[in-house]
Amino acid sequence: MDKRKVEEIFDKYAEEYSSGPFAPSRYDTSRSAMSFADDITWYFMLKYLPKDKTVRILDAGGGDGYWAEKLIALGYHNIVLSDLSQGMLEQAKKRLAKVKTSHDIAFVKSDISDMKEFQSSLFDYVFSQYDAVSYCLEPWNAVKELTRVAKPQSYVIVSLDTKFRRVPELIQAGLVDEAEKLLTTSISYDFDWPQYNLTWEELADHFQAAGLEVIEVVGAPVFMHQVKAETLEKLENDAETRQRLLKMELDHCTNRSLVNFAGHLQMVGRKRRLK
Ligand SMILES: C[S@@+](CC[C@H](N)C(=O)[O-])C[C@H]1O[C@@H](n2cnc3c(N)ncnc32)[C@H](O)[C@@H]1O
Repeated sequence: MDKRKVEEIFDKYAEEYSSGPFAPSRYDTSRSAMSFADDITWYFMLKYLPKDKTVRILDAGGGDGYWAEKLIALGYHNIVLSDLSQGMLEQAKKRLAKVKTSHDIAFVKSDISDMKEFQSSLFDYVFSQYDAVSYCLEPWNAVKELTRVAKPQSYVIVSLDTKFRRVPELIQAGLVDEAEKLLTTSISYDFDWPQYNLTWEELADHFQAAGLEVIEVVGAPVFMHQVKAETLEKLENDAETRQRLLKMELDHCTNRSLVNFAGHLQMVGRKRRLK
C-alpha cells in the first residue's frame, strides 16, 4: 500500500487520535488494556533514558506528541518529533503549545523508513512507539534508519503489535482467511491499512542486522491483553488492584515465552560502537 494512503488516513483521524479508537477498528483488539501498555512502555523508556536533560532525542512516528509531552514534563527539551502525517504533527503542535515547561521541540515531516532529513549519529536517544515501524511495511528499513541516526552506544526503542496476538483476534472475528494469511505474510489489517506484524525473534534479527545489540524484550502487556475489556475496566477502577495488576505485568513482561502473545512488543537496543 502506498505510504500516501497511510498519511491520508492519519491526517483524517488526527483530531480524534487521543480521544478514543482513532480509526474504525475492523474487530475487537481489546484496547482497554492500552493503559497497561502505556505504563509498561513508559517504565522501560525511563529505564534507558539518559540522565542528562540536554540530550538530543528523536521521537519517530511521534504522532500527537503523547510521549514527547511526558519527556518535556521531566525537563528534556531538545526533542525532534517526526511523523509521516502533517495532521498528526499539527495535533502534536497543539498539545505541546499548552505545555508550560520551556522546550525547543522541532516537528519534522519524515518517513521512518527513509529519514533523509537527519544526518547519521545525531541523536542520544531514539524511539518509535506504537507501530510506525510496522505501518511503513518495511520494518527492517525503519530499524536501520533509527539505528543510523542514533549515536554509537545510545539506546533505540521500538514498539509494534505482536504477530501472534492477532491470530486469535482474527479467528474470534470470523476472519479465518486473514488469520491464515497473517501467518504466511506477516501482514494484518487491524484498521483500513496493512501493518507488518513481527515476533520478538524477527524484530531481534532486524535489530542485530542494523547494528543494535538487543538489551530488552518486553511484552506490553502480557496478561491484561487477554482479560475481557469489561472485567478489566471494573478492576482498573480500584487503584490498589490496578497497582497489583501492574506489578504482575512488570514482574513478568520480559519473560520471552509470554512476549509473542502480548498486546505490544517493545524492544530496547543499543547501537554498537562504530569500527
Ligand atoms: C499508532 S500512531 C502512534 C503515535 C505515537 N508514536 C504514540 O505512541 O502515541 C502511529 C503513528 O505513526 C505514523 N506513521 C505511519 N507510517 C509512518 C511512516 N512511514 N513514517 C513515519 N511515521 C509514520 C502515523 O502518522 C502515526 O502518527
